[in-house]
Amino acid sequence: MKKTMRFGLVVLFLVSITLFSLELGAQTLKATSEIDKKVEKFLAEQSGWYDMNVPSQDGKLLYDLVIKGNYKSALEIGTSTGHSGIYIAWALSKTGGKLITIDIDKGRHKTAVENFKKAGLSDYIDARLADAHSLVKELEGPFDFVFSDADKGWYKNYFNDVDPKLTVGGCFTTHNIREGSSGRGGWNQEYLVYVRSLENYESTLNSDGGGVLISYKRAE
Ligand SMILES: C[S@@+](CC[C@H](N)C(=O)[O-])C[C@H]1O[C@@H](n2cnc3c(N)ncnc32)[C@H](O)[C@@H]1O
Repeated sequence: MKKTMRFGLVVLFLVSITLFSLELGAQTLKATSEIDKKVEKFLAEQSGWYDMNVPSQDGKLLYDLVIKGNYKSALEIGTSTGHSGIYIAWALSKTGGKLITIDIDKGRHKTAVENFKKAGLSDYIDARLADAHSLVKELEGPFDFVFSDADKGWYKNYFNDVDPKLTVGGCFTTHNIREGSSGRGGWNQEYLVYVRSLENYESTLNSDGGGVLISYKRAE
């Protein structure tokens, strides 16, 4: 084959690859912006969240953490009616991930499933109606992002049950953590001191909303 013909074929191949990638990129962007529109519309239509749900700034914080870490395998303990789950799953729709979320309350679980559907995020969420005390132990993992927001007295158990299934580089977030507060029964202080004592975790406390302890796993 002549040199010029070979060169021509290579150029043609490269142009085809570029056009194919651009088309794929455009399709992905279109799908993403459709999800954005649906989620934003759903959130804007809500008159309020009344089922112990996180405030919006905490939802946005969870969204940002998932995007920043490019996390793909998330676990939420305590779905309620789905406010935090919507923010986490919205971010996962961009990273190509999926959320397992657990709640023990039938009514709230049902409303959450309806809300996930209305927000256009059902494909990114596996909502389980179960007692997290047992299900968290049973789930195989691995997870790279966790949001713990169910019964506070069980926080330390949830953390220890998930820890072996959390990847290095992964992030474990815990809601309603306050600096200096004991929490009813002393759970808050005990939990905060415990997680901060772990040498393979690096924790910071975000107090802009309801108090989110952000703990990155740095080593096994
Ligand atoms: C603070 S709310 C979660 C709010 C939710 N993250 C949001 O922002 O929309 C706590 C939820 O944990 C659930 N919960 C409490 N104990 C549980 C358990 N043992 N297993 C599963 N869910 C539990 C409650 O039913 C409640 O809906």
